[in-house]
Amino acid sequence: MLSIIKFLKDFLLFFPATLLFAPLSKIFIFIGHFNKLINWIQKNKRTVLYSDFYSPIRRYEKRFELYRFLVEHFQLTKEPILYLEFGVATGSSFRWWTDQNKHEGSLFVGFDTFEGLPENWGGIYKKGDMSASTPVLDDIRTRFVKGLFQDTLYDFLEEHDTVLKSSPKKVIHLDADLYSSTAFTLSQLVRYLKTGDLILFDEFTVALHEFKAFSEFTSTFGIKLTPVAAVNNFYQTAFVVD
Ligand SMILES: C[S@@+](CC[C@H](N)C(=O)[O-])C[C@H]1O[C@@H](n2cnc3c(N)ncnc32)[C@H](O)[C@@H]1O
Repeated sequence: MLSIIKFLKDFLLFFPATLLFAPLSKIFIFIGHFNKLINWIQKNKRTVLYSDFYSPIRRYEKRFELYRFLVEHFQLTKEPILYLEFGVATGSSFRWWTDQNKHEGSLFVGFDTFEGLPENWGGIYKKGDMSASTPVLDDIRTRFVKGLFQDTLYDFLEEHDTVLKSSPKKVIHLDADLYSSTAFTLSQLVRYLKTGDLILFDEFTVALHEFKAFSEFTSTFGIKLTPVAAVNNFYQTAFVVD
């Protein structure tokens, strides 16, 4: 059997007949990841503590209900947190978190190009969409890091190494939409993750973007993330680090 597979593979390398299917590659890849997502939801839908699955109507504002659940369940209003948001745009979710947690020892850092998405996304959004001016907040606990994550995150992590290692609970909010941005961010933050940290995905069910980044991250780094809450049929999903 093995020698047949080997022969076929070598033959196809010499005579690349599979290229006939090249125009369908994207759809095959999408179906593969989408099925993986469906399997993941079927496996996890009953164990999440807070969920609206299955809900026929998607409402983007439901994400605030998810945040509210997290804040109450993990008692995040009164203890210091390190909140890192990747993808800030106008700052609507960033502001929500600074309003809910008033502990003077908390630090809130938002990362964004503020010049919009670095790539096209989802067949609708174009590179440069979602550009916004850096939010101005009257709160000394907040910082914004302007630029591509891929250009700014190394230096930020090096400069804040001690803070990150000794930090209180981290709330990591991934809202950059893109596979590349999410995968890069997770791969950089992995060494700072501690049991009990929270990771939120804002577009978890986009199979070829955040979901792909999530599944590759958990399998590549052997990290166990337990889903705790989800809204909009898992579109926004929050995990706790085991
Ligand atoms: C959906 S918006 C963020 C929305 C925001 N969290 C809110 O609640 O309003 C996505 C943002 O991610 C940013 N972004 C995506 N990839 C990035 C990257 N690699 N580096 C920096 N910013 C990025 C875009 O500039 C965009 O502003």
